[in-house]
Amino acid sequence: MPKVKRIAVMTSGGDCQAMNSVVRAVVLAARKYNIETVGIMDGFYGMTYRRPGDFRVLRAEDVENIISRGGTILNSARFDEFRQESVIKTAAKNMKEEGIEALVVAGGDGSFRGGLDLLKYSNIPIIGIPSTIDNDITSTEYTLGFDTALRNTIEMADALRDTCNSHKHCNVIEVMGRNCGQIALMTAIAVGASGVAIPEAPEAFDVDRTIDRMIEARKRGKRSFLVVFAEGAVNTRLTDDEKKATLDAAAESYLADRISGRDLAMIADENYISAFGEQFRTRLQRRSREEFSKYYAETGDIHFKDEYIETKFARFAHVARGGSPTVYDRVTASRMGELAVDLIAAKRGNRCICVHDGRITSMDMWDAINVDSVYRRYRKTGVHDSEAIAKLSPLQKKLYDYRVKLNESLIRSAAALSEI
Ligand code: F6P
Repeated sequence: MPKVKRIAVMTSGGDCQAMNSVVRAVVLAARKYNIETVGIMDGFYGMTYRRPGDFRVLRAEDVENIISRGGTILNSARFDEFRQESVIKTAAKNMKEEGIEALVVAGGDGSFRGGLDLLKYSNIPIIGIPSTIDNDITSTEYTLGFDTALRNTIEMADALRDTCNSHKHCNVIEVMGRNCGQIALMTAIAVGASGVAIPEAPEAFDVDRTIDRMIEARKRGKRSFLVVFAEGAVNTRLTDDEKKATLDAAAESYLADRISGRDLAMIADENYISAFGEQFRTRLQRRSREEFSKYYAETGDIHFKDEYIETKFARFAHVARGGSPTVYDRVTASRMGELAVDLIAAKRGNRCICVHDGRITSMDMWDAINVDSVYRRYRKTGVHDSEAIAKLSPLQKKLYDYRVKLNESLIRSAAALSEI
């Protein structure tokens, strides 16, 4: 069998920390086998448009000192057009003309699917390295970036805690994670949050019970609060009719002079703002003001005169995705990158690198995509597709069960945390 001589590496989709560590590991491991590595700029976009410099040979010197850098020296892009046949064919032609014999792609499941589409027209084997802060790829227990994203969210939340404590504030924090609540839950546990809302079970976060508990805690002297919302969590409790009814009642009270314009604005905000976290913030302020004013009237305790839980909102968003990777991400990425090249050299293409039972290994790419689809269907419908599950291999079944259990434990932990 002729030896592989030239491979490509690229980073694709939403970036994450340790993508640079992957690129470095691929280049250095390829050297062991006398394989030349080409870096493709801007993922599938660069592969398709092949502007000058989009395919560049990477030497060891080019990847020096990048292991500690966030972002990706190859840049990254989301490129939805890569579903169109003509686009994929152009990219496949470019890869052939560049003499690329295998591709390592660091990205999420969308990037792996793109790699398989490319394979249809190019016969160029691919190796996928799971890279997304969301940790939401079914075929692996860990995706690169997750650990560093948590380090970032925790540092930022701790910083907010300091200022919250000085001012007796609450801070509502929204974190990324798409439809996965792991970042939110881990952050909430690690910073001692008073509640967490996750997409797996937004109803496990009871807005009014959480507010009641916070009000009671303030009466006992608790100064600051943090509450964490996953960006994918939506308030499933408020129907459109309910929103309209509260707003109509509030408008009536306003016209009858029973509430102020400011309160009306708050109620409007609470009912029409799309983000769950922002709804919570406005409701907490309004309800705590009402409760403490009653409490002051009953007890005469001066600490509660004009008291309310002033609440700020912080969306951490993309900050979670940047910064220097943690040791765990650097080491895992390096090991994954090296394994990818070992597989290519052994002519074992079309595989996903994964972590199973804490060990770094690989599995067939189609099997990975297939088990991901079966699990996503379950997440969407809440129903196990027994016909599809019966067709899974023992390894796929193990991964499926792992995700189902993880999902259940996320829901349990989120509910438990909201009760503390
Ligand atoms: O998948 C990673 C991620 O950061 C998600 O957490 C988030 O929902 C999404 O990407 C944001 O995408 P974009 O950077 O395209 O706004």
